[in-house]
Formats: sequence, structure tokens, C-alpha cells
Amino acid sequence: MRRREARSPSTPQHERADLPALADREGVLEELVRVICEAWASFDAPRPAEPQLGEELAARLVAPLPEEPGDVEDALSDAARVLDASVSPSRPLNLGYIGSTGLEMGVLGSALAATYDVNLAVTAGGADLVEEQALRWLADFVGFPLAEGAFTSGGMTSNLTALLAARERALPGSRTDGLTGRRAAVYCSEEAHHSVVRAVEVCGLGSAAVRRIPLDDRRRMRPEALDAAVSRDAASGITPVAVVATAGTTLTGAVDPLDEIADVCGRHGVWMHVDGAYGLPAAAVPETAPLFAGLERADSTTVDAHKWLGVQKSCSAVMLRETGRLRAAFGHEERYMLHEGDVPNPVDRTLEYSRPLRSLRLWMALRVHGAAQYRIWIKRTLDNARHLTGLLREAPDFELLHEPMLSTVCFRHAPSGLRDPDAHNLRLAREMQRDGRVFLAPASVDGRACLRACFVNFRTTARDVERILPVAREVGGRLVRP
Ligand SMILES: Cc1ncc(COP(=O)(O)O)c(C=O)c1O
Repeated sequence: MRRREARSPSTPQHERADLPALADREGVLEELVRVICEAWASFDAPRPAEPQLGEELAARLVAPLPEEPGDVEDALSDAARVLDASVSPSRPLNLGYIGSTGLEMGVLGSALAATYDVNLAVTAGGADLVEEQALRWLADFVGFPLAEGAFTSGGMTSNLTALLAARERALPGSRTDGLTGRRAAVYCSEEAHHSVVRAVEVCGLGSAAVRRIPLDDRRRMRPEALDAAVSRDAASGITPVAVVATAGTTLTGAVDPLDEIADVCGRHGVWMHVDGAYGLPAAAVPETAPLFAGLERADSTTVDAHKWLGVQKSCSAVMLRETGRLRAAFGHEERYMLHEGDVPNPVDRTLEYSRPLRSLRLWMALRVHGAAQYRIWIKRTLDNARHLTGLLREAPDFELLHEPMLSTVCFRHAPSGLRDPDAHNLRLAREMQRDGRVFLAPASVDGRACLRACFVNFRTTARDVERILPVAREVGGRLVRP
């Protein structure tokens, strides 16, 4: 490995003896590296059962604030054991949530970013260029015509950021004067993520402003119903602020018909936001790209790099197609800190003030692995979902609850003679999580309780997929015949 020239001695020589510096930096870092490598190795192999914390460690976790210094290696060892006994999405059969792969590059990027801890609220120099390049790379990857954007803490914050920009366009002055009696509406599908509702609430529009548009038979927003709802509101003096299309719903991975929704938005002059927190990376893969036609017509979009792009939480991006919208939503004149001439601070384009250099994780991963490798990985996760779907179709004791569009599959255990399939499948999800070999989420499709598997982890192999139904069958069988 090429090394930078050392700039400082590895053992600190602080003039202030009480500075919290490590006496043996390299020794402690070696131990940290060992712990991290062990964790990475454990992520590559499905584990037989969940490790437990143990009584002694659990007792230390309720101990009061220490007055005296402690040993760093002890603290590191306890922290590693705590995390090892926690649910990590990086394990290949942890399919319950839309987690990430936990790519090594993300860890390197996080560690470096934490070490330098740059201040992104003001102009930070080189780090600003990394943010911009990572955003451009991301936009190129998914095919969005980026004009401006920001890295945020997650899909929730990205959706909120976009809606605040949309609110200011639809209702100018609302950020300073409030709604002043104006009524507003935001449209999304019946299966849009709850973060849309929360964002509408935080925007001050009230959750009653959310119009849930019904689904078609592929669980996508129905554009003609959207058109009717927008027309109805406009005719009664309610301002349509934004339509939030979902590109990959949390429950089943459905992608709303973006092109047709863009037609509706264009006709009514409404801001179109695409919540692609989970699904947008599939726009980069030829097999699924056609589902995202129309994305390029959206005013804004969200994508979480900490989901299907493999890096660690939290690393989301909101991207906009028109420059100036973020400044209109967040810019402000500070009187207590002077700007450099006329140049706005980066904080004039973001909701957050202090924030970590999240983009470095993604920048490292994209730079080291490249777009082609990412496309192969994403295709593999799509193949995993298809594989599970095929296995479900052949299994007489399981039922597939929808046709997967992306990489999410909802299904249920339905052995013959089962009296209460809803109660059984909820118990099964809980028992499987306790068992630890395969972690699925309990979910409900059209009121039917089921198990939900979401494939976004690049570590998961076809052989891993083949373990899912046998484990579900074994645990489910125990519940039916205790
Ligand atoms: C479609 C969608 N939007 C938004 C979110 C919220 O994202 P985050 O948890 O990163 O805030 C999620 C989370 O799963 C999601 O699936």
C-alpha cells in the first residue's frame, strides 16, 4: 500500500498532560483493526445463532457515569461485544429491514471523516468538492439531471428537505410568514413511506394535507386518481404543494409510474418529488431501468446510500433539478457571523447546521469499486429476490403475496390446516428473529400478516437465499406442532 509521508510522531507529545490522547495510539488502533476485521469476517458467513450479551456485560451497561478514567482496551472490547450482540444488516441473512452491505470503503470514509471533523456549515475547502463530486456521481449513476443537492441524515430528512423547497415554491413566503390562511395538499400513494406524512407535518401543513392516492393492481399510485385529486383541490382553493411518487415502496418495492405522474404534475404545475430512498439505485441496472422512466422530469429526488448502495448510516442525498430552490428554502442572513463578501455559506442550502462529511463514505466506495461493479451487485440482489420468488412458487406450504418489482418479497407460511394464518405468521417472524439464522420483518399486505424479505445486501448469495424457506418451515413447524 502506498503511504503518505508521516507528518507527526505516532506517540502524542502533548504539552497539556490532561489532554485525552492515547498513550499508545498505534497499539490501540491495531486492536480496533482486529475487531473490525473479525466483524467483517463474521458478516461474510451466516451465523448459527445470535450471540448474547452475558450478565456481566449487561450489568456494566447500567453502571452510573464513571468519575475516574477507564481502560481504553476494556471499553473497546465491551463496545465490540455489545455491537456483536446487536442486529446488524450487514449479515447476509438479515433481510428484515432495508439495511446496507456495510462496505469496507464506507468504514474507511467514516473513520477519516470523523478524524478530521470538518465544518460543513461554512466553506470547508476540499471537503466541499468531495460532497459535490459524490452528488454528481450519484446523479449520473441513477440518471437524474442534478442542479443542486445535499447529503442528509436519511430518507426522512431528504424528503423533508425537498418538501420544504416545494412548499416555498408553491406558497412563497410561507417559511417566514406561515401559511397565512392558505390551505395546501401533498399527494402520495397509499403505500408511501410514513416519512412523507412526518415531513408534511414538520412543514406545518398538517397531516390532513396528505392525500393518499389509491393503488393499481401492481401496488403503484394511480395517475388518473392523482389527476382527479389535484383538480379537486385546485378547484376548491387548496394549493397542491407537491406530489411524492415512490420509486420502490418500503412494503413491496413497487415503483410508481413516474412518467405518467410527471404528466399530471406538468399539467397542474405541481412539484414532483421522487422518494427513491430505497429503490432508486435500481434505475442504474438495465433490467430495471425502464421502471424509472420519467425520473429525469422530477423536480427532486431522494436516494439513501445507506440502503442499496452499501455504505453505512447515515448517508442519504436529496437532489434537485433547479438551482436556487434550496437557498430559497434555507438561506438566511446571519448578523452574528459575517459572510465572506457575497458568498452564501453551505448551511444556506441545508436543513442541518453541524453535520458529518457523510459523502466521503460513498465517494470512497464509488471511487474504489466503480459503477460497473455496483451494477453487478445490484443485479445480484434483484436475482436473489427472483430466486426466492421461484422457490416460493414451488413450495406448496408457502404463499407469495405480490409480484416483486424490485428486490422485496412478501410471503407467508401457509401449511395445510392452519387455523389463523395472521397470528401464525406474526409469531413466526418473531420466533425467526429470536432464532437468529434468518432475520425477516413482520409485515401486512392487504391486511394479511406476512414475512418480508428485502435484498439489498451485496453479500447475500443464492445459497443463502436457499436457506430461508427451510428455516421458516422448521421454525413455523415447531409453532404449529409444539
Ligand atoms: C421509501 C422510503 N422512504 C423513506 C424512508 C426513510 O428513510 P430513513 O430511514 O433513511 O430516514 C424509507 C426507509 O425505509 C423508505 O423505505
